[in-house]
Amino acid sequence: MLVDSHAHLMFPQFRKDLDDLLARARAAGVGRIVNVGTNLDTSRAAIALAEAEADVFASAGFHPSDSAKADESALKKLPALLKHHRVVAVGETGLDFYRKYAPREVQERAFRAHIRLAREMALPLIMHSRGAETRVLDVLAEEGGSEVGGVMHCFGGNVEGAKRAVDLNFYLGFGGIVTFKNSGALEVALDVPAERLLLETDCPFLAPVPKRGKRNEPAYVRYVAECFADAGWGDTEDVCRQTTQNAQTLFGLTS
Ligand code: NI
Repeated sequence: MLVDSHAHLMFPQFRKDLDDLLARARAAGVGRIVNVGTNLDTSRAAIALAEAEADVFASAGFHPSDSAKADESALKKLPALLKHHRVVAVGETGLDFYRKYAPREVQERAFRAHIRLAREMALPLIMHSRGAETRVLDVLAEEGGSEVGGVMHCFGGNVEGAKRAVDLNFYLGFGGIVTFKNSGALEVALDVPAERLLLETDCPFLAPVPKRGKRNEPAYVRYVAECFADAGWGDTEDVCRQTTQNAQTLFGLTS
């Protein structure tokens, strides 16, 4: 079995063929999907899908790109969503200094609020970080994020950053980028301790080779597993078994 630890199935790219997509994922051996919320609407939609599909789980939170929406009254609505029995994590949250969706202070205020909520609810965190790996880890350390742990999803930092994340009790998620030649991500990923590695798609974005440039979907997480196997990590079944166990440990994905 495989787990797609980071998907966005409520995005409009999937509106027309979600049932077929889930069938393809199951046929590819993807037995669990963490469907990640990015604001109140997508978090609610993720929960609704998780209620309907036993192998799909939800998270709730505000992506850094939506952090301007995460004002006090919006944040007050999150705990009710996070209490839902199909919600397995807080996020995605974090910082994005690359796209500059919102001023740094606004992003950071929302991020800190998410970490506090995760601690209150005893839920792991799902972090987005782009051009901000050091700052994300600094804020996690300051706010006690290690207490609940979580995942640095689509990790784009270097080997040192990955080591620090592991030391702070976090997992590292890797997707299609490890299959892109010269991205450098595979070298970082191969250095991560086996028990801290998660696989993901981040679909509809970042489809792995040989689907690069197409719409991504959970079934393609198998190409990521095969990439690790080809790079000498172990055979594909070892990669699947270990990363599935890791996702179960972190998120507790029991239907
Ligand atoms: Ni995402």
